[in-house]
Amino acid sequence: MGQFDEVYKRSLEDPEGFWGEAADDVFWFKRWDSVLDDSNPPFYRWFEGGTTNTCYNALDRHVEEGRGEQAALIYDSPVTDTKQSFTYRELTDKVAAFAGALEKYGVGYGDRVIIYMPMIPEAAIAMLATTRIGAVHSVVFGGFASNELAKRIDDCKPKLIVTASCGIEPGRTVAYMPLLDGAIEMAKHKPDHCIVYQRPMAEAELTEGRDVEWNAAHEGASPAACAEVKATDPAYILYTSGTTGVPKGVVRATGGHIVALKWSMKNIYNVDPGEVFWAASDVGWVVGHSYIVYAPLFHGCTTMLYEGKPVGTPDAGAFWRVISEHKVSTMFTAPTAIRAIKKEDPDGKLLANYDMSHYKAQFLAGERCDPDTLHWCEEKLKVPAVDHWWQTETGWPIASNCLGIEQLPVKAGSPTRAVPGWNVQILGEACNEVKRGDIGAISIKLPLPPGALPTLWQNDERYVESYLADYPGYYKTGDAGYMDEDGYIYVMTRTDDIINVAGHRLSTGGMEEVLANHPAVAECAVIGVADQLKGQVPLGFVVLKDGVNTPEEQIVQELVQMVRKEIGPVAAFKQATVVQRLPKTRSGKILRGTMQKIADGQDYPMPATIDDPAILPEIKEALEEIGYAK
Ligand code: COA
Ligand code: AMP
Repeated sequence: MGQFDEVYKRSLEDPEGFWGEAADDVFWFKRWDSVLDDSNPPFYRWFEGGTTNTCYNALDRHVEEGRGEQAALIYDSPVTDTKQSFTYRELTDKVAAFAGALEKYGVGYGDRVIIYMPMIPEAAIAMLATTRIGAVHSVVFGGFASNELAKRIDDCKPKLIVTASCGIEPGRTVAYMPLLDGAIEMAKHKPDHCIVYQRPMAEAELTEGRDVEWNAAHEGASPAACAEVKATDPAYILYTSGTTGVPKGVVRATGGHIVALKWSMKNIYNVDPGEVFWAASDVGWVVGHSYIVYAPLFHGCTTMLYEGKPVGTPDAGAFWRVISEHKVSTMFTAPTAIRAIKKEDPDGKLLANYDMSHYKAQFLAGERCDPDTLHWCEEKLKVPAVDHWWQTETGWPIASNCLGIEQLPVKAGSPTRAVPGWNVQILGEACNEVKRGDIGAISIKLPLPPGALPTLWQNDERYVESYLADYPGYYKTGDAGYMDEDGYIYVMTRTDDIINVAGHRLSTGGMEEVLANHPAVAECAVIGVADQLKGQVPLGFVVLKDGVNTPEEQIVQELVQMVRKEIGPVAAFKQATVVQRLPKTRSGKILRGTMQKIADGQDYPMPATIDDPAILPEIKEALEEIGYAK
């Protein structure tokens, strides 16, 4: 048995011993009473009885252990031409000061704080400050519009919102305040205060009585100490797309989060304290939470916070410049970003301008990794390229090549094997394990390891219904795929109405809810069609109400604007087509899967339950007119 097999086996046979040992690497105010409390299935709690603090494990402990002068965070922003480095000591001081400001405005243990910010150091400072005082943050990605922000405000009811005056996107400045004002107006719940970080590119107009400028918020506040919180208390809530327009509030419990993320840095990424680690994502996504802010800091690394794009800021060598300049040893991005680079610099010529000799590994996740992209990384970067698979819910990788345990042979198209702690099984409809090689629902036997979601925010019922009800005793990932004879996992497709656009997870159901609100639309469907750069992009089909005379192009334009305004630019909803009818089953369910196959030019079986097969050629024709179904 290889080293990996041994570690994996032990993690499943003796989870308490395994995670108890990993937890010894973490600071606890009080050690746990039990590693795993399984007295109330399907709800499991890790490190019950233990008390700790997320921010203490990320910052203070490293200052006390001698890392005070090491860089904790490097901010590199080609869009504002700024570079800034913060030592562990400096970051600890800034975080303690902002935590004091939060306290001054009445935020305390268990209160929620929404953070709606671009990729600036203050975003990480706000996150760490919130956990420092035992409050719970919920970061909302800057590419979401007011309506989405309002949904999150109403669900988690923040006492306070932290924001910045603007974000920078190529060619435009995104003013946050109008979006925030709109959201607060729409939401039933009103925060007491908003703290606003003013950026010189576009200053925000503040609302008197509600808004406080970032520096002013600090006045008269004393630095806050780290609060002792329960291992089972939520560290944060992160909303993610579900099958409807109502996002799911994924909860991350404090103790398991610290233990699992710290463990992952060495065992999965093979990174040591003191090394520079870079996740090129955004703090608004789970990757940003886990691998921009928390895991590298728990592990005493230097983390990169990059405000820029893979291409255009200024060119397709942007990532290599950052790796070379800041001596990044390992980085993580989405395959989309590599495809964008490859498109502009197919031969990787720009790499010649940079010293990459210290570079150790390229990790990829967020969407299915096509073999071409993986091989391009291997050939051009000359380091292991590791596709790994995980979700907002799991918080850290479910399947990966664990470079710090034993590097396994790579099979392009597979994120390798289940990581220790994750008992992955492929299930058939009867909740039976299917044969190796057969496609089924990729599921994880309960209990999930530390760090994975224990429930949804104040909604145990939705947690059970969404993830646990279909396969009792298992967590349903929502991904379908298979496992080969060697235990390698292949993630093929989602089993729900979620699509993945440029590594961003989006709900087609949510977009349909927006389209259905257009006064001319009688019925609609949104599917994800294959896209060479972004993996998938959404495409809308609408049936118009009788008697509508507005030109179709105008309606389509209005629909595109509506989705941009209500969900946000990140939805990348740019195309819709008007059809006479939608294909449905006899029971009235729209055949989205079949429409998607037609759009992608794939063969499809005629669905046995289709009501009127004559509609499919109509769909094909409509798709051909806009350049699909070839
Ligand atoms: N605030 C406001 N708007 C944002 C935003 C933010 N934080 N992030 C993205 N947007 C906007 C973009 O400007 C774009 O607007 P546009 O329609 O006016 O052009 C829209 O949302 C879609 O963005 P995106 O899908 O990212 O496409 P893009 O064309 O701007 O960039 C890539 C393409 C490949 C360069 C980009 O998607 C990328 O870097 N992807 C990496 C994926 C990633 O980091 N995933 C995170 C999980 S690991
Ligand atoms: P998110 O919750 O936004 O991280 O999205 C999670 C979803 O992205 C997963 O359920 C998969 O559908 C997809 N995904 C993420 N990483 C991978 C990967 N390495 N291979 C295939 N799909 C992936």
